[in-house]
Amino acid sequence: MKRACDKIHMRKKLREYTENLERLIKEKSELQSHLSSLGLMIGSVSHGIKGLLTGLDGGMYQVESGFSKENSLQIEEGWNIVKLMVERIRKMVLDILYYAKERNLNWENVDVLSFAEEVAMVVERNISSGNIEFIRDFDASAGKFEIDSGCIHSALINILENAVDACIRDKSKERHQIIFKVASDEKNINFEVCDNGTGMDMETREKLFTLFFSTKGTRGTGLGLFISNKIIQQHGGSIKVSSLPGQGSKFTISIPKKTSEFLKERSETEPQKPVK
Ligand SMILES: Nc1ncnc2c1ncn2[C@@H]1O[C@H](COP(=O)(O)OP(=O)(O)O)[C@@H](O)[C@H]1O
Ligand SMILES: [Mg+2]
Repeated sequence: MKRACDKIHMRKKLREYTENLERLIKEKSELQSHLSSLGLMIGSVSHGIKGLLTGLDGGMYQVESGFSKENSLQIEEGWNIVKLMVERIRKMVLDILYYAKERNLNWENVDVLSFAEEVAMVVERNISSGNIEFIRDFDASAGKFEIDSGCIHSALINILENAVDACIRDKSKERHQIIFKVASDEKNINFEVCDNGTGMDMETREKLFTLFFSTKGTRGTGLGLFISNKIIQQHGGSIKVSSLPGQGSKFTISIPKKTSEFLKERSETEPQKPVK
């Protein structure tokens, strides 16, 4: 009897140790991946900033040389380069700050239509090319959903900006179109961003949510979709992508209408994970 009891006790202890060990290993590997992404981040940021500083130097040289020759056209050209570079550095730093910040989500009940309209207006204002048509396809009965509107706003802007980039970079068609669609089903609000720009090959499709993955050279940071994906996950939602090279891409973003309830249910059934 005693031997049996001992054996049961031992088994229990062993299971506890194993579980503990598993947890430790998991924590260690999370820490490791955090550190290596930090290392990657510093490398990539330094590289990006170096490129932008070279551009800035070029602009400053033009301004100086314009002043000494009293050539106002050259001064203006140089100044435009300086402004462009400063704007890019600002964007990059803001993106990084966004990624680095630990945040608690600020849940609000938001009207889907006016929210989508605000997002659309920002994008429309930024489309400078006359050859891109921006089309809204909004379901008037979409109602409300519960989100952190600042976060979802940036997530959608990132995706829409990529669509604009894809149209600008695609030289194979004369006219381009971006369709921004909003619909609602029983549980979710579904956004769709459809463009007929460059499209993506398989490698890009597989890597597009990876931190710092970009095919845009110094013009890209590779932060946009990484951040968008993170935000949408924090809302209990999902992003799907379909795309063909040369034809265009479609991003479908689903967000539960009652996100905070949904997340609460999930955290009650699953062990609590810190949201990063
Ligand atoms: N609509 C799109 N059409 C074509 N390629 C896209 C689209 N959206 C994203 N991509 C690809 O995914 C990459 C990562 O996007 P993102 O994370 O926003 O970084 P960035 O825009 O700074 O390059 C882009 O460089 C591009 O190759
Ligand atoms: Mg982007």
